[in-house]
Amino acid sequence: MTVPSLSCSIIILHLKHFRTLFPLKERKRTIMKTVLLIVLFFFFQNFKTSSSIHHKYDAIYNFGDSLSDTGNFLLSGALAFPVIGKLPYGETFFRHATGRCSDGRLIIDYIAEAFGLPHLPPYLDIVREKKHVKTGVSFAVSGATALDTQFFYAQGLGPLVWTNDSLSVQLGWFKKFKSSLCSTKQECDEYFKKSLFLVGEIGGNDYNYPFFVGGSIKQAQALAPLVVGAITKATSMLIEEGAMDVMVPGNLPIGCSAVYLTIFGPTSNQSDYDPRTGCLKAYNAFARYHNQQLKRSLQMQRLKYPHARITYADYYGAAMRLYHTPKRYGFKEGTLKACCGGGGPYNFNNSARCGHTGSRACSNPSAYVNWDGIHLTDAAYGHISKGLIYGRFTSPPLTSLLGN
Ligand SMILES: *[C@@H]1O[C@H](CO)[C@@H](O)[C@H](O)[C@H]1NC(C)=O
Ligand SMILES: *[C@@H]1O[C@H](CO)[C@@H](O)[C@H](O)[C@H]1NC(C)=O
Repeated sequence: MTVPSLSCSIIILHLKHFRTLFPLKERKRTIMKTVLLIVLFFFFQNFKTSSSIHHKYDAIYNFGDSLSDTGNFLLSGALAFPVIGKLPYGETFFRHATGRCSDGRLIIDYIAEAFGLPHLPPYLDIVREKKHVKTGVSFAVSGATALDTQFFYAQGLGPLVWTNDSLSVQLGWFKKFKSSLCSTKQECDEYFKKSLFLVGEIGGNDYNYPFFVGGSIKQAQALAPLVVGAITKATSMLIEEGAMDVMVPGNLPIGCSAVYLTIFGPTSNQSDYDPRTGCLKAYNAFARYHNQQLKRSLQMQRLKYPHARITYADYYGAAMRLYHTPKRYGFKEGTLKACCGGGGPYNFNNSARCGHTGSRACSNPSAYVNWDGIHLTDAAYGHISKGLIYGRFTSPPLTSLLGN
């Protein structure tokens, strides 16, 4: 920042004085030289910044829930949700089930593709098969919470909890795994300098569990500081382990999800719905509330760790575009109805969820935002990812890190 402004003042000084210093002919030559110098200066200036910022990552490490689980939950037993191990899950992109909660790729898969890296293998497969991987791993587990699950057990929500592999368990896995990546501090620092760490999305389930048994929005708001605190603590821990680049996504617009619309609707009060999208206003407002708190907390983290690059990823904003202008993204069948489900106004029926008897998948998933009532389609995740990678939904922007 200081360099260009300094060079500008030198140029002004130069122009003011050379009229008096040089005769006309020489003046012309000097103007040409000056112009050439300015052009060259800016050329090299640009060249220098682009080659130092536009580097590619060598690895991505990811923590989270079903939005970024590439197979851990399935490998851990998946008692609560075994259908993700069968078609139609995975049908669109992989053509077989991988344990991802979608018909295809997740946001994390699109991000890996953008940086020229392989899709992140699930951590539990790497340890089971004793594989050696240095290009990244996903530690995310479907159903995982930011808070430890004892918290939910203590509130009587235990029967709802899909998995005990909460964020702190996933961080424990990372610490164990780290010794296979690098040994000395210097070696780790070198390696992590070119690694991206994604903490989330996580926290959505911390609210889902209480909401699904009738918890109020007020209660969820009271929970938010704890959830945000757990996410922030995980970010600190990773930075203290050597992470330099951490991206923390916020929550999606949950008021637009078929499961929320089914459980909390239909309401007799039309003003509960956003007239433009049909989404439940109060639940979207709550997602924004969580995101605001998270952003504020990340701002404090930036002050605490000025050497690290902490990015907020606005999943809410990137997803909201799809609900506002669905046709622009090819979502011809509307945005709120699930592609795969067992009927009902939003094609979400809890006793015939996608993959269970009585459900069926649509023939054109890319025309739908919502895949199974809870999770989104390969197409929707693709458009959200584009907004994150090339759009304005990461701050500071992720694009500045992409190679040309
Ligand atoms: C989680 O841990 C509790 C004990 O703390 C146990 O009772 C429960 O079965 C575990 N749940 C899962 C899904 O593994
Ligand atoms: C409908 O909801 C709005 C707020 O969402 C509220 O102000 C209004 O009183 C409600 N009307 C009825 C009839 O419940």
